[in-house]
Amino acid sequence: MPTDAPHPPPLPASGPDPSATAEFIRRTCPLRPSLGLVLGSGFAGAVQDLPVTACFEFAELPGFHRPGVPGHSGQLLIVRFDEVTVAVLRGRLHAYEGHDLPTVTFPIRVLAALGARQLLLTNAAGGIRDDFHPGDLVIVSDHLNALGASPLRGVPLPGGFVDLSEVYSRPLRQALAEALQSTGLAPREGVYAAMPGPSFETPAEIRALRTLGADLVGMSTVAEAIVARHCGLEVAALSCVTNRAAGLGGRISHEEVTEVGHRISPLAQRVLRRFVTLATASASLSA
Ligand code: HPA
Repeated sequence: MPTDAPHPPPLPASGPDPSATAEFIRRTCPLRPSLGLVLGSGFAGAVQDLPVTACFEFAELPGFHRPGVPGHSGQLLIVRFDEVTVAVLRGRLHAYEGHDLPTVTFPIRVLAALGARQLLLTNAAGGIRDDFHPGDLVIVSDHLNALGASPLRGVPLPGGFVDLSEVYSRPLRQALAEALQSTGLAPREGVYAAMPGPSFETPAEIRALRTLGADLVGMSTVAEAIVARHCGLEVAALSCVTNRAAGLGGRISHEEVTEVGHRISPLAQRVLRRFVTLATASASLSA
């Protein structure tokens, strides 16, 4: 999907400069990534066995904060996926850790400043739709922002309001569908609702979200996707259903969420690898 966002995109009025962080990274690793990949809970193992060209701890990168959630290691890796250079965020920041949304989404601005034109966001999610069960991988078709805020609040918008009528690009959703099929999985799509956390939801909230059209629920992804669109990136997102949402199964625990993520890790790695090849091919076709 070609984008017409201004480059570089306008920044929040205060805060760190993503171009400076990108420059810091380039001094160690001059490779220009074409794609960014955010590995959420359970997907962190998906880059094991791949050649890592450079690895930065979040704590050493200007403007980054260290994630505080178990299962989120907090590294930016430059990885070669077959012939493609990918900038991988292994772990992410969440608003529920106390960060504001510009801080949560700063790493996405850095990926854009590094030159990435495509972005895949991955996450763990609760399944709301009746046929979404633990272990399922689901393509995000659209989202509901129930965070109560926008990451673009206070950001100058010289180009006008950001169009979110197709946040998750059709060609990248197609690439995800083909990647799932090539690993023997049925491609299914769903609407992802982002809740602020850090508690899991109540059954009443899940009934409300279902009525509003949500199929999946989580605590991430949406702010990053909005900022990525603001930066002109082509975006896709993939959820790993780790539990039935509140009131639809048993009690939900963080351990269950991470355990299911680990279990699907080898499968997720195959899907992501295939996706990177297909996405890059679709980018060169549309270039
Ligand atoms: N709710 C919110 N976030 C989640 C869930 C959930 O049920 N599962 C994994 N992340």
